Amino acid sequence: MRFTASRQRIEDASDLVVNGVNSAFRQGIRPHPLVFTAADGAILTDLDGNHLIDYFLGMGPMLLGHRPPPVVAAARQALDRSILVAGQTEAEYAAAQLLADLIPSAEQVRFALSGSEAVHAALRVARAHTGRSTVLKFEGHYHGWFDNVLWSVAPEPADAGPREAPIPVPGSAGQQPADVAVLPWNDAGLLAERLRRHDVAAVIMEPVMFNNAGILPLPGYLEAARAACDETGTLLIFDEVITGFRVSAGGAQREFGVTPDLTILGKALANGFPVAALVGRRGPMSQLGGAVLHGGTYNTQSVAMAATVATLTEIAGGEPYRRIDQVGKRLMDGLRKEFADAGVDARIVGWPAVFQVRLDPVPPRDYREGLRADRARYADLAAALLDLGVRVLPRGTWFVSAAHEDEHVDRTLAAVRAVLAGRAE
Ligand SMILES: Cc1ncc(COP(=O)(O)O)c(C=O)c1O
Repeated sequence: MRFTASRQRIEDASDLVVNGVNSAFRQGIRPHPLVFTAADGAILTDLDGNHLIDYFLGMGPMLLGHRPPPVVAAARQALDRSILVAGQTEAEYAAAQLLADLIPSAEQVRFALSGSEAVHAALRVARAHTGRSTVLKFEGHYHGWFDNVLWSVAPEPADAGPREAPIPVPGSAGQQPADVAVLPWNDAGLLAERLRRHDVAAVIMEPVMFNNAGILPLPGYLEAARAACDETGTLLIFDEVITGFRVSAGGAQREFGVTPDLTILGKALANGFPVAALVGRRGPMSQLGGAVLHGGTYNTQSVAMAATVATLTEIAGGEPYRRIDQVGKRLMDGLRKEFADAGVDARIVGWPAVFQVRLDPVPPRDYREGLRADRARYADLAAALLDLGVRVLPRGTWFVSAAHEDEHVDRTLAAVRAVLAGRAE
């Protein structure tokens, strides 16, 4: 496939729009960022007229695929009534009820626009509720781009200090200092010991570490984190921006049977519309009705809320999962076979709607162990797949939607086979 029109457009636009992109995560993409003209079902169309099987899915949100009819219809109908009212509409209460029905920790709900904002609100709630200032996060976990939490997301080992006592490493120039403590994930002993100082307001984690290496919680780890938080009066926050609605309709918390105090939801929540949510126990959530301020001009914008209700209704009905389970499992099994046939040591870990492909013979427990994988080789593979019309994230995460079909899986596996055969020559 040729991507010359995209390359030219990015180059031309870069004079006006910095690097031709509007998110740091969209620059540095190989061979260069792409410009798209359409997206439908499982397929993206780019400026060169290429049709790409899409496993980026907007970085995760498009659980039902691009432009699923029920969501498009709901958004269109909403547009005929209002766009933004700076007040309440029935749709936001319906969306909140759907969340309360689906997510175990969701006794109360507040909507926001992005995961980063909802995380920001959660940390404010936690600090106000506990009267403590420190927030504890884990190496390799990503919770959005704000100053509070953009620490040790992908630190160079040389900067990160000893494993047992990591040095928080900022993720951006211009970032303000924050009262943040960092630990390796999946080490219940270290966590319990640190919390015994009784100075941590909240522990925040991705319950499955999908932003780095796709690492599962060790058996008993989430339970141990829950217990350590309970013993020390610390709030437990699950950032389910990726895992929510993908690991299961009730998130990783339902899958693993561990209920956090607060949960951040985003991405698949509204199938591509800018909606996130902070949900949680009544106690801490009630801070938002008092001294803790959370605002936003665009919170619960009418069209986005209609899309949220439509998406969550589909999710609650279960049909998307029946489709994704079938097609995603076939894809995971097929990938296992392709890698095995090519003699490449690969691990495919996760769930049909979100899984990780890792070139690593031993499962890692945490970020530092995740660095063992042959990430450069995987990125080469992702770049080669794009040339064959399959768009996958270079970091190894695959998102599957209810719009992916057997035919897409067949073409994807054929492309993987071709790339692996090319490498073996
Ligand atoms: C686990 C997690 N938390 C938070 C965020 C931030 O969400 P947003 O990009 O909507 O601000 C992301 C985004 O990728 C994420 O993966």
